[in-house]
Amino acid sequence: MSKIKIAPSLLAADFGNLQKDVEMVNQSEAAWHHLDIMDGLFVPNISYGMPVIKAIAKHATKPLDVHLMIVDPDRYIKTFADLGASVLTVHYEACTHLHRTLQAIKAAGMKAGVALNPHSSVNLLEETINDIDLVCIMSVNPGFGGQSFIQNTYKKVIALKKMIVDQGATTLIEIDGGVTDANAKQLSEAGADVLVAGSFVFKSQNPTATISALSKIAST
Ligand code: DX5
Ligand code: ZN
Repeated sequence: MSKIKIAPSLLAADFGNLQKDVEMVNQSEAAWHHLDIMDGLFVPNISYGMPVIKAIAKHATKPLDVHLMIVDPDRYIKTFADLGASVLTVHYEACTHLHRTLQAIKAAGMKAGVALNPHSSVNLLEETINDIDLVCIMSVNPGFGGQSFIQNTYKKVIALKKMIVDQGATTLIEIDGGVTDANAKQLSEAGADVLVAGSFVFKSQNPTATISALSKIAST
């Protein structure tokens, strides 16, 4: 089993002291910074926008994994490339012309990700899997941190992993929502490559140690 990537979600960070939490992630065993962008339309919540992302990018030393929970994400592809995103993930449910959107993300120099809501089957990606760098399987309904993990996720990860192997694709599988030490190992065994964790990391006593522990549990 290859080493799993941990991507702490800054949605659960202390916004009054964002620099400190970004630096904590820099110095930890985390692989990426996960940024959740919500527009109040695609999801019933608004998170943060460009000036805050700019401030995060200024201090972050690891790749920015940007998760767009917004309608019509094509409008902002260039903006996120300019802000320094490494991975730009759009929702399947928000894209009328997903194939075109994926090509546009890659043409802008970023890795292209597709997120699936809990109700969306992984089979929806059968025709595009070779064009996708990362699939983000939502293990909660997007919009809020701190929700409980949906158990049906394991089944989706196994099915997606099979599709990736069968088609000879190199797509990474990311899991987002309710990730803790209670599900990390099983997710990794099912085929996950990246685990996003917000509350479990930032609400813990020692976030750096929690990131290490999560990485160790998932990689053994
Ligand atoms: C949910 C976001 C997640 C969220 C995860 O809409 O996409 O990235 O921050 O938070 P936890 O780990 O607290 O469920
Ligand atoms: Zn997310």
